[in-house]
Amino acid sequence: MSVPVPNSVEQVLLDEETIQQRVQAVADQVSADYRDKEQIVLVGVLKGSFIFLADLARRLTVPHHVDFVAVSSYGAQGAASGAVRLIMDTRAPITGQHVIVVEDIMDTGYTLDYLLRSFTARQPASLKSCVLLSKPERRQVEVEVDYLGFEIPNVWVVGYGLDFADRFRTLPYIAALKPEVYQK
Ligand code: PRP
Repeated sequence: MSVPVPNSVEQVLLDEETIQQRVQAVADQVSADYRDKEQIVLVGVLKGSFIFLADLARRLTVPHHVDFVAVSSYGAQGAASGAVRLIMDTRAPITGQHVIVVEDIMDTGYTLDYLLRSFTARQPASLKSCVLLSKPERRQVEVEVDYLGFEIPNVWVVGYGLDFADRFRTLPYIAALKPEVYQK
């Protein structure tokens, strides 16, 4: 059964099959890289990562826990200021754990940069990042991504966890919104 494309959508950029194939490939790589580890911890960044993390985790063949953080951008310019703070921490400490931070999208890079820096200070056994989508044109700070799904152009994308005003997160594909929707 295919999900109808909402009127606000301009174009589907990544269809369901393309996403699922790539998630499988990323999961295979993670499983291979951590095959000798007793356990890894996937830390999803709410809210956008919840669908990617769920699909990725279920395809892993290595033992894993899942945990979550939530972050918020603050300051007059919002995310553009680069000021990020943690508003919900992981349930369990990550010290001594093999941690992978899982993000739906990297835009300026400020969020992932902040998380990797603050997690490093907690002395995990290892720390890597896994990002489904990257918009290289928007980058303000260089952040190393260990596992990347796709690079995309600088357009507003929704679906597969990504939203516009909290809508469209559960679309099974990733689509560009019509500019008139977000430029209002
Ligand atoms: C998005 C995304 C990242 C962040 C990336 O979250 O999930 O956490 O922005 O942007 P950056 O690279 O410029 O820091 P958003 O603020 O849209 O919140 P959400 O995940 O709850 O939708």
